[in-house]
Amino acid sequence: MNILAIETSCDETAVAVLDARGEIERARFAILGNALLSQADKHAAYGGVYPTLAKREHQNNLVPLAMQALEDAGMLSSHIRDVRIRDELLEPLRDPAFKDAVRVFLKSYEKPDIDCIAVTKGPGLEPALWTGITFAEALSEAWGIPLMGIDHLEGHILSALLKPAVTDQSFVVSTKANANQYELHSPDLPLLTLVISGGHTEFSLMSEWLSFAPVGETRDDAVGEAFDKVARLLDLTYPGGPKIAELAERSRVRGSGDIRFPRPMAHDATCDFSFSGLKTAVLYKLRNMDKISEVEKEHIAEAFEDAVRDVIVLKTRRALTEHAPRALVVGGGVSANTHIKNGILSLVKEEFPDVFVSFPIPELTGDNAIMIGAAAYVRNLLGKDSPEKIVAQGNLRLGAT
Ligand code: KG4
Ligand code: ZN
Repeated sequence: MNILAIETSCDETAVAVLDARGEIERARFAILGNALLSQADKHAAYGGVYPTLAKREHQNNLVPLAMQALEDAGMLSSHIRDVRIRDELLEPLRDPAFKDAVRVFLKSYEKPDIDCIAVTKGPGLEPALWTGITFAEALSEAWGIPLMGIDHLEGHILSALLKPAVTDQSFVVSTKANANQYELHSPDLPLLTLVISGGHTEFSLMSEWLSFAPVGETRDDAVGEAFDKVARLLDLTYPGGPKIAELAERSRVRGSGDIRFPRPMAHDATCDFSFSGLKTAVLYKLRNMDKISEVEKEHIAEAFEDAVRDVIVLKTRRALTEHAPRALVVGGGVSANTHIKNGILSLVKEEFPDVFVSFPIPELTGDNAIMIGAAAYVRNLLGKDSPEKIVAQGNLRLGAT
C-alpha cells in the first residue's frame, strides 16, 4: 500500500510517501519520500508557536513539500492532457494564494500511484490542522484517493516502535532501492504508552492495537511546554528543550551546582503530573539572583532537568507497578532528551527487567509525517476507518476514535 502522509498540527510542515506492507506483527515501511520544514526559527521571535503564522507557513509550504516528497518517490510526472479543477474543490482552502498553488499543482501533474492519503486531524493548533486537512481533502477529491484522519499521538506512539529494518530480499521497493526502511516492533500487549511532547504529557494503557485507556496526564503544563517556558526565563530561544538539555549537560560535565527544585506531585497517589509549579520555582529562584552568570544558568538548567527526570521516573514506576504492562513505549519531542531517557531506561532495567521498552530513533522523536503514515497503515490493517468528513480536533483525546 502506498500512503501519502501529511502532518501540520504545530510548527512542522511534513509530507511523506511510504510503501507499507505486511501484517501488524511484520509491518514494513519503505520511506520513498520525506519532506519536512520546521518553522521553529520563525516562531522564535514570539517565544512559542504563533497559530496564525503557523497556518500561513503551512499554506506556503504544503505544495512544494508534497512535490518534493512525490518527486523523491518517483511519482511526480507532468500531465499530458489538460485537466479542469472545479472551483468548489478548492473553496475550503480559502486563502487565494494557497488555492492558486494547489490548482497549479493539480493541473500540472498526473495522479500519483498512491492508495491512501493520511492527514493529522488532532490534537494540535486548529488553524494549522485545518490547513493540512483541507489540502489533503482537495488532493483526495481531485485524485479519487481515500482519505484517513489520524491522531497525532497515535503517530508519536507508533514512531517509537519503528526500527531501521535489516534489508531482506522479500521486501523489494521498485522505485528507490536505497530508501530508508523501517519495521514495526510489535511487543506483547498490553503496552503502557507515555507521550511527552510540547502539548502533551500522558500515560495510556493500550490493551489492543490502537485501543487506549487513560492512566494519567498533566494537570497543567505539558513537559515540553515547561522546558520551553523555563528556557524563556533563561533568555534561550524557542524551542527551548534541546537548549536546556545542552546547558544541563555542560553543568554536569563541569561540576554540578547545589540548586534543587521541588518534584511536583511526587507523593500524590495518581499517575498525573504537574509542571507549572516547577516553572514558578525557577522564576522565584531567578528573582532572588541579581545577575545570572552563564555557569549559574547551567546549574539552573541542570536542576530543572533533574526535577523533571525524577518526576517522570517516579510516575513511570507507579504506572508500571499499577498496570503491569508487558511493554513501555515512550514518544514525543521530549523523548529526545537523553537524561530523561536514561532515567527511564535505568528504571526499567533495574526494577522491571521483563518489560520491553522502546523509544523512537532520533530522526523520529519530533513531529514528522512518517509516523502519520505508519499510524494510517496500522489503522487500515485493523479496519478502523475514520468518518467521511474529517474535522480538526485541537483537543482530540487518545482512543477517542
Ligand atoms: O513532539 P513535538 O515535536 O511537538 C509536539 O507535538 O508538541 O515536541 C516538541 C517539544 C518542544 O517543547 C521541545 O522543546 C521539546 O519537545 N524537546 C525537548 C528536547 N527536544 C525537543 N525537550 C527536552 N529535551 C530535548 N532534547
Ligand atoms: Zn508532536
